[in-house]
Amino acid sequence: MNIVDIIAKKRDNLTLTKEEIQFWINGIMDESIPEYQSSSLLMAITLNGMSKEEIGDLTEAMMYSGDIVDLTAIEGIKVDKHSTGGVGDKTSIVLGPLVAAAGGTVAKMSGRGLSHTGGTLDKLESIEGFNVYLNQQQFIDVVNQVGCAIIGQSDNLVKADKILYSLRDVTATVDSIALIASSIMSKKLASGSDSILLDVKIGEGAFMKDIESGRELASTMIGIGQHLNRDVRAVLSNMNQPLGNAIGNSLEVIEAIDTLQNKGPKDFEELCLSTASIMLTQAHVVDNYEEGKRLALETLRSGKAFEKLIQWIAAQGGNIEQIKNTKLLPHSKNQLTLKSKQAGWIKDVLAMELGKLSMHLGGGRQKVTDEINHGVGLILHTRVGEKLNIDDDLITIYYDDEILSQERIDEAYDCFIYSDTPVDKIEMILETID
Ligand code: URA
Repeated sequence: MNIVDIIAKKRDNLTLTKEEIQFWINGIMDESIPEYQSSSLLMAITLNGMSKEEIGDLTEAMMYSGDIVDLTAIEGIKVDKHSTGGVGDKTSIVLGPLVAAAGGTVAKMSGRGLSHTGGTLDKLESIEGFNVYLNQQQFIDVVNQVGCAIIGQSDNLVKADKILYSLRDVTATVDSIALIASSIMSKKLASGSDSILLDVKIGEGAFMKDIESGRELASTMIGIGQHLNRDVRAVLSNMNQPLGNAIGNSLEVIEAIDTLQNKGPKDFEELCLSTASIMLTQAHVVDNYEEGKRLALETLRSGKAFEKLIQWIAAQGGNIEQIKNTKLLPHSKNQLTLKSKQAGWIKDVLAMELGKLSMHLGGGRQKVTDEINHGVGLILHTRVGEKLNIDDDLITIYYDDEILSQERIDEAYDCFIYSDTPVDKIEMILETID
């Protein structure tokens, strides 16, 4: 087999065989195929796409390029949830204890934040002592004891993806459905869960800008699940404004805690209940979505999900006094609330820009090696569709610098777009696909 022939085949829009795809991934791993040839093949894939079988074969080859996590020592059906990345997305911190308290099992591996999107691990590390580096046995023990755990992804998981992702980043080949789907699914499948719920974010603050491409990505990933005999389902959810009101590490943990105490923002609660319902169906705890919704709601309202949060945080070494009294979590030294300078209906709240603002305040990373400030971030006081008067609260900025620059204040104001006429509220869940 020869890599030049494989590149030429994809250039001519022909279908690659399983063996050819495996040959490519093997060549990446043993470094017999140089980066310029892989880059060329990545571009041919980006331009011509891949068939369902090719995507399944690529995912499988990538999946076995590193460690495969064996979770068979965990009793029951393990369900995982993966979000394609948004702003203000603290869903996993609610879903772990909510699904576990309702009888499901969540063994989740998460990542860190980069650029405008935050990462669940960084958020959880706002809690003093919380250990995201459990070894495999400790991870299994916590899940068996509590019903949920969230840890960092092992460095050895899907090694080919690390190489391919950094090549894609510098060769304008990130935006390929085949490559995104195989990258995400190879990691999810190697992480060992039996069922996966994908939360595909659509909108200004997300990878997928419109519903058609979101739908295509979701069904491609579901197809990979079918190819490899896993139950994969998807929700398409709106990222045309940040999720909930809080952006920033400890601020998002506080919003997740509030939600588990039945005092969180309604749109965020709705997403948590809907996704929990699907996960409970996948875990065979309930027979259908409606039953799942009833059970999830009852588990939340009864306080059982909050109790489970405390058990889980304690099991991973976190300081539960900070959960019971969120004033003890890290807070920035300074706060400034900006007031609306005009009256009107809010038409857009620019999620990606707000994510970048939070990053510039120190809440996120520009480079993987950057340190995180857990206390800084943003709290929104308005949502799309709301009417504001002059001087109504717009946003509070939590910052640690002595002075907040005019540039940052202007950036915050620019994230709110007004309309003179009424605007509809945003639907949180756009579609469910299974
Ligand atoms: N997330 C991933 O893990 N991979 C992609 O290609 C895009 C988003």
